[in-house]
Amino acid sequence: MERSLPFAVLISGRGSNMLALARAASEGRIAGRLAVVISDQPAAMGLVEAHRLGLATDVVEAAGGTDRATLGRRLTEILERHRTELVALAGFMRILDAGFVQRWQGRLLNIHPSLLPAHRGLHTHRRVLAAGDHQHGCTVHFVTEELDAGPAIIQGRLAVRPGDTEESLSARVQQLEHIIYPRAVGWFAARRLQWKDGCAMLDDRPLTSPIIEDAQ
Ligand code: GRF
Repeated sequence: MERSLPFAVLISGRGSNMLALARAASEGRIAGRLAVVISDQPAAMGLVEAHRLGLATDVVEAAGGTDRATLGRRLTEILERHRTELVALAGFMRILDAGFVQRWQGRLLNIHPSLLPAHRGLHTHRRVLAAGDHQHGCTVHFVTEELDAGPAIIQGRLAVRPGDTEESLSARVQQLEHIIYPRAVGWFAARRLQWKDGCAMLDDRPLTSPIIEDAQ
């Protein structure tokens, strides 16, 4: 029987990337199964969508003074219960502690709305406009302890247009996100993408720079 990788998606909000991953798995573009959708926000829109699709969901208790290490342990408990082999962060708005990152190292991906290493952190569309950048996009990368700094795997790239706003950029970047994240997870599920000694490897070759997908 063909192997189907159980993966998890962690969200805090809308969950459009989670839906793109769920769709890719159900259409066979990812040789995997979305085993659980986890949120730190009980009211996240993405959880409603996940329920609608009949996916397993869970909410990680993160109220009040929950420290990062406790949050990380609770997440790992849920992930292990679902026999997760890959964790995809998709708009999960919590910083993960070192223990969690080490536990899942090489099996932990994130999508970030900029062409990393440019514009790590928040408000990337605003910062692209303020800097007068000509190009913008999104990056799927392996997660390491340093925020938004792990090895990049694939980037979606677009040209900034005159008159672009944060909203117009965000909409075009998201279209690219929904292409590149399923592609990266598909590579991982097919064992084409691997983590080796701190490097991203694609088809047994180190990715010295990310694969680029240009917007049409
Ligand atoms: C995306 O823009 C992603 O790059 C960032 O958070 C956003 C999540 O959007 N990390 P959604 O919840 O997947 O729609």
